[in-house]
Amino acid sequence: MNWQKLFRVKTDFPVAQESGSLKRVLGVKDLTFFGIAAIIGAGIFSSIGEACASGGPASVYLIIICGIACAFAALCYAEFASRIPVSGSAYTYAYASFGELFAWVIGWALIMEYAIGNIYVAFSWSGYVVHLLDQLGWFLPRWMVTDYSSASEIFNKLISGMDQSMVSGDAGALWKSANLSSLSMNDQNAFIAYADSPVFMGLHIVFDAPALLINILITMLVYRGIKESKNASNIMVILKLVAIVLVIVVGVAYIDVKNYEPFMPNGFKGVMSGVSALFFTYIGFDAVSTLAEEAKNPQRDLPRGMFYSLLICTVLYIFITLVLTGMVPYTSLAVGDPLAFVLGERGINWLEYIVSIVAVVAMASVLLVFQMGQPRIWLSMSRDGLLPPAFAKIHNKFSTPSFATVITGLMVGVPILFTNESFVLDFTSIGTIFAFVLVCGGVLLLPARKAGEGKGFRLPYVNGKWIFPSLVIGSIALAQSGFPDYFEGLLDLKQWNNMFTVAHGLYWILLIGLSVMTFMKNWSLIPLLGLSICAYLLTGMEANNWYWFFAWFGVGLVIYFSYGYRKSKLANA
Ligand code: ALA
Repeated sequence: MNWQKLFRVKTDFPVAQESGSLKRVLGVKDLTFFGIAAIIGAGIFSSIGEACASGGPASVYLIIICGIACAFAALCYAEFASRIPVSGSAYTYAYASFGELFAWVIGWALIMEYAIGNIYVAFSWSGYVVHLLDQLGWFLPRWMVTDYSSASEIFNKLISGMDQSMVSGDAGALWKSANLSSLSMNDQNAFIAYADSPVFMGLHIVFDAPALLINILITMLVYRGIKESKNASNIMVILKLVAIVLVIVVGVAYIDVKNYEPFMPNGFKGVMSGVSALFFTYIGFDAVSTLAEEAKNPQRDLPRGMFYSLLICTVLYIFITLVLTGMVPYTSLAVGDPLAFVLGERGINWLEYIVSIVAVVAMASVLLVFQMGQPRIWLSMSRDGLLPPAFAKIHNKFSTPSFATVITGLMVGVPILFTNESFVLDFTSIGTIFAFVLVCGGVLLLPARKAGEGKGFRLPYVNGKWIFPSLVIGSIALAQSGFPDYFEGLLDLKQWNNMFTVAHGLYWILLIGLSVMTFMKNWSLIPLLGLSICAYLLTGMEANNWYWFFAWFGVGLVIYFSYGYRKSKLANA
């Protein structure tokens, strides 16, 4: 093995000029709209509920921390995007800084953000559609609107707890008649889905048909081309902005300040347990960078598109979190449709109805953006020889990466048949935060720009030599004075037997290492802060998330060494 090949850095980024290249039609307004289209979706309409139910009103702190983390990451994305205006997102940027192996790793992580993230959005979309249909009196059989994994899990758990002497014949029907009302609504539906499902050769047929259907429709739309997709997306964005502002403006009048006490009911640990759900609400601003080859003036407009969309969403999220947790007791928010739920609880039915419809539209626009982004990342990887040439094929008539678009549809559609929401939510967030950490780290390693090199955005350089180590020492002192047991626990290696201690211990080791390096190398403060805050979010992940994360990368490395390592254009140049 030639180790140098693995870390060779790509310096030349020609954009294909031949007839098969993509069309440049997007301006700054379109890019901002794309950002919002990607950001506001299943997170704010769905996953925020679970986060608020564990963190209480103080979840707003985590919303702000996640917003700051994303803002720093956006600055780093913008610096990269203005240097390297081709499609490919963080993948391309990693190729320019860390070298080929890391580029592959990041490209692989982006699948977690784009394709896997869309699985969560498709499930949430289905949840809202089914809710609306139920309200209209059109009850679809539960076995065709529920994911197999949740249904079989709850069914088997409950049946295995039964007195086995009673289990002859139809155990599901027996259990249902006795105990159904003791379950939450979600669990009741999942149980019924499994118990009532048709059985084919011993296999219960349970699947989420609306989630599959929306994936097929979106894949077809993306396959047809950017112009049509852009127009559809702009209308969706306006609709969802109006709905969210309405919820805030109307909801404020229904806030009961008693709901803010206690503000942090489960401590900061409770707040941090919502990290996957709340970080997910922000995912998407970076999708703007995948449109570099379709933007009219990418160096100037990509950074602007990212910032504007992130800023608008952060402000809306802060208000929504306060309104939700102010309107009802935080404990009741553990539902899949928290916005519609609080409106229903407080009797604002006209708005509940509007919000449900807009949620369906909003999530479709998120699906659209990610379903467009994923094939464009693969297109870049394929041009570099890390994926087969078919992934770079541009459709003659529609000018879209057609093969990669179809594969994306399959990557989203097939797992819908056997995964569930909470798994894909964690998986997406951990992969995306990891990608952001690498992007911030990548900026640290970039050579300083010479005067006049590149156009548009420039990341301001602030020397971190003294500031960063001082901040780290200050944080340690602050944490020590507020929580004296915290560092004591971390310093006692015997206590490194749980995820919390391991993650926090490694986090501080990272910060101390970065401080030393920064002191020696005068690293730039902004990417350092981005890296530190994003890495902090990773400390909120459970052990289970990490197992899957490493398994995913294991598979990725096997694919790289059996294909990309040999076929890479750079390595073979
Ligand atoms: N932020 C996007 C959403 O919430 C992924 O759906």
